[in-house]
Amino acid sequence: MTRPDRTEPLTLSDLSLAVHGGIELDSTQALRTPLVMANSYQLPDDPSEISWSATASGLYTRNSGVNQVALEKKLAAFDEAEDAVALASGVAALHAVFFTHVRAGDHVVVSDVVYEATWRLWTELLPHRYGLEATFVDISDLDAVRAAMRPTTRLVCIEAIANPTTKVADVAAVAEIAHTSGALLMVDSTFSPPPFYRPIRDGADLVVHSLTKYINGHGDAMGGSVAGRRELIEPIKADAMVDVGGIISPFNAWQIQRGTVTLPLRLRQHFGSAQRIAEMLSEDPRVEYIAYPGLDSHPDHDLAARQFGGAGYGGMMAFAVKGSPDTQNRFVANLRLITSGFSLGHDDSLIVHTGTEGGRVTTYPEPFRVHGHLRLSVGLEDTDDLLDDLAAALNETFPR
Ligand SMILES: Cc1ncc(COP(=O)(O)O)c(C=O)c1O
Repeated sequence: MTRPDRTEPLTLSDLSLAVHGGIELDSTQALRTPLVMANSYQLPDDPSEISWSATASGLYTRNSGVNQVALEKKLAAFDEAEDAVALASGVAALHAVFFTHVRAGDHVVVSDVVYEATWRLWTELLPHRYGLEATFVDISDLDAVRAAMRPTTRLVCIEAIANPTTKVADVAAVAEIAHTSGALLMVDSTFSPPPFYRPIRDGADLVVHSLTKYINGHGDAMGGSVAGRRELIEPIKADAMVDVGGIISPFNAWQIQRGTVTLPLRLRQHFGSAQRIAEMLSEDPRVEYIAYPGLDSHPDHDLAARQFGGAGYGGMMAFAVKGSPDTQNRFVANLRLITSGFSLGHDDSLIVHTGTEGGRVTTYPEPFRVHGHLRLSVGLEDTDDLLDDLAAALNETFPR
């Protein structure tokens, strides 16, 4: 029997890509990439010519392992990138970009709303330890971004939808500014994973994901990735992976690869529920404010509609109920289905209260500065159950 030629490249739609992307049968002919929990691989009779710093598979798992490579192929296909590297966590991926692509004397421009660790890396750790310089700018103000660029600016670092205020960056516009100055654009797209959004199409040079979040999607494995042109990814593998060692475990890579299969389906549910929840909260007089890019009231709604092409507005929102931080905490305690917990993009809905005292929140614009906020990651539960949970908690928090 002649089999179809499986080496012919196909143009796959997103759902098919999620199922088949990156899968290559090995000698076992198993239809799933086998989990290979091995630190070392058998070397040839004469290994003396093999570089201990090589990024090749088949040597040692810190140089690259079977499950890592399989995941990287899939992620590169998803992000429409030439290559990708999978690392131990989202933060390891961010650090890998900074460690590899920024050198002493370089300057970086960072969005004023970014994940806590990016903020700390660029306000404290990298400037204090390595003398690197960062300027934080309001990424919505393109003139401010232009003005922040210097001849030494090597990297512009933004989030497509920012954690936690859901500020949306105009990636194509920022890419143009970065490239005009000869800088690279890195987009952390953790809140906006593929196939929902592919920053490379808008000119991003490096795309970072916390795989811990939507891409794994089940709240049970940590990982991070960077995708981009081969000439930018290869040095990350050689420097930050092999010689600094932020490698992903084979088991996590295997689990995350399995998670990717349902990613497009899951995103539909996350985003559909998030839109309905945001609408419900925006109409409730007990809610002080709500930031969700899918609402007309969001300052970046039009940009989000254009940039994300009507595919939705994400599964994350920031809001506060009326009252003090104590009231926010009581509201969270009154939720039964939605759990108070860090992280996002998991199958279960997670909420976290960030207060107004100290820390990052003091740098945010109104109303976050005044009220703090609740960050809600809408999970895969039934939409009506989530709406009921929020409504019941509001009623308990604000008895009539
Ligand atoms: C936007 C963003 N980038 C990076 C990270 C870090 O990811 P990880 O927790 O996998 O290190 C997070 C975590 O919440 C995030 O929200």
